[in-house]
Amino acid sequence: MQFHATRAAADSLKTGCAVVGIYEKNELSTAAAALDAKSGGLIRRLIKRGDFSGKSGEVLPITEMPGTPAERALLVGLGSRAAFGRKPYRRAVAAAVQWLAKTGTRDAVLYLAQDDIPEVDAYYAARYAAESASAALYRIPDLKSGKKPPPPKLGKITVAVADRGELAAARRGLEHGAGIWAGMALARDLGNLPANVCTPTYLASRARQLARDHKAIRTRVLDEPEIKRLKMGSFLSVTRGTEQPPKLIVMEYRGTKASTAPIALVGKGITFDSGGISLKPGPAMDEMKYDMGGAASVFGAMAAIAAIGPRINVVGIIPACENMPSGRATKPGDIVTSMSGKTIEVLNTDAEGRLILCDAITYSRKFKPRAVVDIATLTGACVIALGAHYSGLFSNDDALSQDLSAAGRRADDGAWPMPVTEEYAEQLKSNFADMANIGGREAGAVTAACFLSKFAEDLKWAHLDIAGTAWLSGARKGGTGRPVPLLVDWLLGQA
Ligand code: BES
Ligand code: MN
Ligand code: ZN
Repeated sequence: MQFHATRAAADSLKTGCAVVGIYEKNELSTAAAALDAKSGGLIRRLIKRGDFSGKSGEVLPITEMPGTPAERALLVGLGSRAAFGRKPYRRAVAAAVQWLAKTGTRDAVLYLAQDDIPEVDAYYAARYAAESASAALYRIPDLKSGKKPPPPKLGKITVAVADRGELAAARRGLEHGAGIWAGMALARDLGNLPANVCTPTYLASRARQLARDHKAIRTRVLDEPEIKRLKMGSFLSVTRGTEQPPKLIVMEYRGTKASTAPIALVGKGITFDSGGISLKPGPAMDEMKYDMGGAASVFGAMAAIAAIGPRINVVGIIPACENMPSGRATKPGDIVTSMSGKTIEVLNTDAEGRLILCDAITYSRKFKPRAVVDIATLTGACVIALGAHYSGLFSNDDALSQDLSAAGRRADDGAWPMPVTEEYAEQLKSNFADMANIGGREAGAVTAACFLSKFAEDLKWAHLDIAGTAWLSGARKGGTGRPVPLLVDWLLGQA
C-alpha cells in the first residue's frame, strides 16, 4: 500500500473514491459539506431520506458522484460530534478501507482528518490512518486448501489534512504508521503460525532474514553449546524435555554511533508451552503456540525501527525454546543455577517464561544497555487482573514506567502500571535455593515480575506482561501485533 498526504479540499481532487465523514444528527464534516455543495446537495438528500445515520463505523457508498472529480464517494459515520476523537476516527478509517477493499477502487482520498480531532494532531491522524488502513486489510496467511480471494485492487491511500503547515507532520506520520504496521503484521504472522512450523530454529531463520532485509540489522544466533558455555542453566532447564534445539537470538539495530548505549528488548520465545511436567489442562492448549508473543513483538519492533531509521541503537534478545514433558524434562523440585549464579527451585515447570527471561536479562548486561524492557506472555494472573485491554507494566524505574505508559496511551496500545515491591518478593522464598520460581496464587503477575526484578537489580528495567493483549481467543482468534505500537512509539521518543 502506498500512502500520500495532501491538503486539497474534498470537492477538488480526482480520485477513485472520496471518503468523507458524517456525524450523527445529520451533521456534515467540512469535507462532506464541500462535496455536497459540488454535487448539488446529493449528500444531504440521501441523509434526509434516512439512508444513513452517522453512527460510528457505518458506511454508505455513493457509487457515482456527478459534478465532482471523484468517481465515487463513501460516507463514513463518525458518531456524535461531542464524542469524536481517536477511537471513532480509527474506526471510521478501518470501516472505509474494509469497504474499499471489497470494490474495484484503486485509490482513495481520506478526508477524515480535516476536521479537528480532539487530542490528535496531524502526525498522529496520519499515523493512525496508515496503521488502521493496513490493519483492516490484514489476512491471516492460513493453510486452508481452498482458493484464496483475490488481493484487493486498492493500492494507494491519500490522507488529506486541513492546512499546508500540517503536511510535513502528516508525511512523517504516514511513514511511521506504515513502519509500525509492517512490524505488527510480522508479529501477527509469527504468532499465528502453528508451533510445528514456528520452532526456535524457524524463529532464528526469520531473524537472519530480517538482517538480510535491513542493512541496519545484524543477527547472531547462539546454539545450545554456546548457551551451555554461557552457563544459562535456568534457560536450559526449560528446553530439556523437547527434541527441538533451543536458540538464543540476538538482533542488533545500529541507527547511530557504536559508542551510544543501546536499548535492550528481551522477548519471551516459548514456541509452545505445554506446561512441561506440570502439564497444562487440555482446553485451549493450542493457544500456547502464542507463547512466543513477546519474541514476536521484538521482531516487529526491530522491523518497524529498521524501516523508520531513528538515530538510536537497539538490541533484541530472544531466548527461544519449547516447554515439553519427557523423560529428560525438568521436574518440580529440581534446582537449577542461572547465568547470574543465583539458584532457583523449580516448583512448577509451567512457570517457564521467567526461567528463560532471567538468563536473557543477565545476558543483556553484555551490551551495557541504557534500559532493558522485557516483553512476555508471562502469567494467566495478568489476564485476570487486566483482561485484554491493557498489558501489565512493571518497572524498577518510575521515569521509564511513565515513559512507557505514555507511549502506550499515544499509540493506542495501553499498558497499566503494577507494583513490584519487596512485600511480594517474600512469596518467592525457598528452603532449598535462592528463590522459588512461583509465589502462590495471590498476585501471580506481580510475583512473576518480582522474580525477574531480582535479575535486573541495578539495570533500568521494565517488564510488559502481554498474556492478555498478544492474541484474541474465540471467533476472532489470532495474534494482535501488540505491543509493537507501544514499543515503537517509545523507541522513537528515545532518538
Ligand atoms: N504462558 C503461560 C501464561 C499464560 C497463560 C498466558 C494463559 C496466556 C494465557 C505461562 O508460562 C504460565 O503457564 N504461567 C503460569 C504460572 C503459574 C504456574 C505460576 C500461569 O499463569 O498459570
Ligand atoms: Mn507456562
Ligand atoms: Zn509460558
